[in-house]
Amino acid sequence: MYVMKENIINRAINVLDANFQKGGFTIPSKGLYPFQWKWDSGFIAVGLAHYNIDHAKKEIETLLNAQWDNGFIPHIVFHTDDDSYFPGHDFHRSDLHPLSSKKYKSTGMTQPPVTAFVLQDMLNIVDDKEDMLNFIKGQIDKVYDNHVYFYENRDPQNEGLVYIYHNWESGTDNSPVWDDIWDTMNPPEYTFERKDTTHVDASQRPSKREYDHYLYIIDIAKQNNYDDAKIAELSPFLVQDPLFNAMLIKSNKALMELYELFGGNEDKIAYLRKNQERSIAAFNQKLWDNELGAYVHYDMRNDKPIRHVSSSSFSPLFAGIPSKERAEVLVNTMMDRFGGDDKYLCASFDPTDNRFNPRKYWRGPVWINMNWMLYRGLKEYGYKEIAARVQNDSIELVERDGFFEYFDCRKDTGEEIRKGYGGDNFSWTAALIIDLLKG
Ligand code: DGY
Repeated sequence: MYVMKENIINRAINVLDANFQKGGFTIPSKGLYPFQWKWDSGFIAVGLAHYNIDHAKKEIETLLNAQWDNGFIPHIVFHTDDDSYFPGHDFHRSDLHPLSSKKYKSTGMTQPPVTAFVLQDMLNIVDDKEDMLNFIKGQIDKVYDNHVYFYENRDPQNEGLVYIYHNWESGTDNSPVWDDIWDTMNPPEYTFERKDTTHVDASQRPSKREYDHYLYIIDIAKQNNYDDAKIAELSPFLVQDPLFNAMLIKSNKALMELYELFGGNEDKIAYLRKNQERSIAAFNQKLWDNELGAYVHYDMRNDKPIRHVSSSSFSPLFAGIPSKERAEVLVNTMMDRFGGDDKYLCASFDPTDNRFNPRKYWRGPVWINMNWMLYRGLKEYGYKEIAARVQNDSIELVERDGFFEYFDCRKDTGEEIRKGYGGDNFSWTAALIIDLLKG
């Protein structure tokens, strides 16, 4: 066991080192994703903190350097001019927003706010606490400003839940959850050259028609210079996502605890506390589906819940959102639908739903970042055995199938040689496996 563990950790370190760039950030995967992604960079920093603290700090610093003057942090920072990715900065045109970074080209959309809880994790991981506290002190206000941005600009009805206006903001890009929204739209057929399918088999990636939807939503945002109020008014995609809001709540808690360590900052702590209470109450009230026994997404544009169970449904465990009783219902739902002996935990989408696809990106495969959050959440609520299963399943998949982006949840795939799917040598898989093996 010990040798096996050391061996995986060394392989993971090689993946991360190879993906670290001169500019001080880590690409998620060579070829497929050649820039810095917001939530990737957070998960990557957790892994880096275990063996290269300078790189871990750089990872956070380079992301936060690209913050806009309104506190917004973009989902991709285009540190280099690389035309092997579509859509690039010339399509996104972040310069349209008057407060966007003048120094860094980026997208005009964001991704789940993981940075605050990542900073807290980094502090917990390293030995030299004083050094890390100093680092955090220099960065924390930027992360706080990002949370203020969300509450002040992404919650038009003042509910305590923030919206996302694009599926790429969710991180769960082509989840079947969005199919209901695509059904309400009829975007034009765009002419463009896909780059992702030159790196990865098309059967594992979103379809051309899905990309038409993705581009069309960006076009609407661009026509309105990425103005949040206009987007809230006009975007055909406007969703309260349980994963995104759970990450915000988890990160609010981390921010409050870090600020308390520093002393002072009473105003900031009070602001976070007020919003935290509202957010948790609204989350439990609006996003809980009693019949399904799970948290679900809410489609604000069409004013209705999207009633499907996905791995996002379980992310509130990581943020301490459900009561003990509700957590029990949620875990039972997970085990009934996702937890059969013929499967690895945890599929990204309900295997009993006819939209499930075990090979296609966010339509069913297992993702290590979701498993990492699930593992922590289950442990926190006292589900030690299921947590251990999530941990062991993750390690087994990576050890046997490689450091891939996502994995088949079926124990029997019908294929002789198993392999992961999507990008190979994928950074957050490597980073979080290190953390799962150490934790
Ligand atoms: C992609 O290109 O699929 C990215 O995940 C978008 O963030």
